[in-house]
Amino acid sequence: MHNVEEIYKKELECISDAVKNSKNPYHTFVFSTINNEHPESRTVVLRGFEPKSFKIYFNADYRSPKIKDLKDNNCCSALFYDQDRRVQLRFRCQAILHYQDDISKAIWKNTALQSRKCYMGGLNPSRKLEEYSPNIPLEYLKTDPDREHSEQGYSNFAHIELKIIELDVLELHHDGHIRFKTDNGIDFYYIAP
Ligand SMILES: Cc1cc2nc3c(=O)[nH]c(=O)nc-3n(C[C@H](O)[C@H](O)[C@H](O)COP(=O)(O)O)c2cc1C
Repeated sequence: MHNVEEIYKKELECISDAVKNSKNPYHTFVFSTINNEHPESRTVVLRGFEPKSFKIYFNADYRSPKIKDLKDNNCCSALFYDQDRRVQLRFRCQAILHYQDDISKAIWKNTALQSRKCYMGGLNPSRKLEEYSPNIPLEYLKTDPDREHSEQGYSNFAHIELKIIELDVLELHHDGHIRFKTDNGIDFYYIAP
């Protein structure tokens, strides 16, 4: 039989690497929420992973619709796919929002100026526009703000913690796909691929 624990460990290492390594396909993932009764998915950047406490982290504009979705219903999903290795990871999660708290403050402190400017736009993300706008201050289209001015963005910055409820791993193989689940990283069971 396959050693699912080995596969699991390898995938955890791969996600950990993807936090800082933008070439790793797990560096971005598809994050899905429930908008009333309708699913909404979008790509986000992986900003943190804690295998021991089973947590995933990313950042978002507090004014964006995904935050409202999560306030209404914190059940959500994180989907990763590595096309070269043909592995899909599907996490069922519950979200905890960090906004204007010690955790969001600490993450903001280490957020690059280039990323900070994305939180400095005057318009609520996803709102309808009468005319085109990049929704960042125009003077920073080609440069980054200085640190002092970039602090303006903090009022829109949110750090999202995803508590993992369950992981579904699928490895595609020509001679038989391997699929299993775990809800604690200790117990594993196969499911039909
Ligand atoms: C490669 C890529 C990375 C992205 N990373 C993030 C991110 O880390 N956080 C985020 O809020 N939006 C990110 N976005 C934008 C979202 O996909 C989405 O368009 C936006 O956040 C609005 O989502 P919402 O209207 O569902 O809230 C990213 C988009 C792309 C294409």
